[in-house]
Amino acid sequence: MNRRKLLQLLSKGAAAGAFVKLSGGLAQSKIPQGATDIMKVLGTTLREYGERSEFEKDVIRYISPNLRSRHTGADFSPLEKLDGVITPSSLHFERHHGGVPNVNPADYRLVIHGMVERPLMFTLQDLKRLPSVTRTYFIECAGNGQNGYRNPPDMTLTATRSRGLVSNSSWTGVPLSILLKEAGLKEGARWLIPEGQDAAAYTRSLPLEKALDDVLVAYAQNGEAIRPEQGYPVRLVVPGWEGSIQVKWLRRIQVTDTPVMSKDETSEYTDVMADGKIYAFTWVMDPESIITYPSGLQQISRGFHEIRGLAWSGHGRIRRVEISLDGGKTWKQASLEPAPDALSVVRFKYNWVWDGRETVIMSRAWDEKGNTQPTQEEFFAKWARNNRYHYNAIQAWRIGADGKVVNGDKTLAGAPARLGAVGRGGCGGES
Ligand code: CO
Repeated sequence: MNRRKLLQLLSKGAAAGAFVKLSGGLAQSKIPQGATDIMKVLGTTLREYGERSEFEKDVIRYISPNLRSRHTGADFSPLEKLDGVITPSSLHFERHHGGVPNVNPADYRLVIHGMVERPLMFTLQDLKRLPSVTRTYFIECAGNGQNGYRNPPDMTLTATRSRGLVSNSSWTGVPLSILLKEAGLKEGARWLIPEGQDAAAYTRSLPLEKALDDVLVAYAQNGEAIRPEQGYPVRLVVPGWEGSIQVKWLRRIQVTDTPVMSKDETSEYTDVMADGKIYAFTWVMDPESIITYPSGLQQISRGFHEIRGLAWSGHGRIRRVEISLDGGKTWKQASLEPAPDALSVVRFKYNWVWDGRETVIMSRAWDEKGNTQPTQEEFFAKWARNNRYHYNAIQAWRIGADGKVVNGDKTLAGAPARLGAVGRGGCGGES
């Protein structure tokens, strides 16, 4: 390579932010005493099932101390402590309505009945014989972001408690369309009524059109059996739609011509709008993003930092994510990794040198359909202050001159949001 080409490459790299001066950043630490003693003892043995390092035990889901019961409610994935885009199965957020059932796969059956030519009953082995697909999809609770309804904003908010009711997994299963074809749909069939095998007999209404499109009857998560708390042995995966319709511990699907209007889609998961109208069947999750570093309650120092975060949309691929370093006045494009996949989480990154001055940082995602995230004001022009679900306004983080990071959302004029009674444990998990 000649000198000219090398210089070209270097300047290209600099433009892309590939070469950064780590000014005032990295501490010159000493080697700790005894660090090499580990090499003088034999390590542990082979073992049948892996465990993470004992030094990683603080990377756990967040369970609100306000919950009245841990059988119904939610807990949050620790977003700011994770890397990449796959959520470890053990840290996938939870949302239950009647605890986690202990289903023995030998006794497991899935029944498809109602408006079909041939009612069918499948064992787990039957399902596993059928053509399978593996896809990476996010699952997001309809109540994700619910802390954004608080006014004034919660100053103890972390990235986990802001948006940790989203997780992203590789799901394997059989397309529901194959099972429905096998059963044979009768004339007039329009809806499916999936029911879970939990103590709440959790039941929803799923339009046939979506079921025939991309819904999976899934039995594996990240390469192994689905975790009990995510629906072992079989759950629905309904890509891009709110988590609450992705029925876990799936035991029965009734084919009908009308929705069932179950308790799980009338007492919950309906939306109150600013004009007083209430909508049911709001399934698609609008685009969202969250900066996970630096984020609430973290502490940073002057100098270089890679701003990192996650973005996703229930409408399709994320097209771009923008970062503001000046409280929303100007926006710059972040890089995305890996190449965005439809209905899957993508990671965004932006190289930044913090000059030590107080500022507010934010991110906003755009999807391939042109949807983006509203500001707080725009969001509440449409949605009622006392709604519980589908919050996707831009999350801001304020960085103080001391490097402390706190919730940067604004206090809005007007009546404060009314959240559910403390400990009710709705989808938001900690209201
Ligand atoms: Co909804």
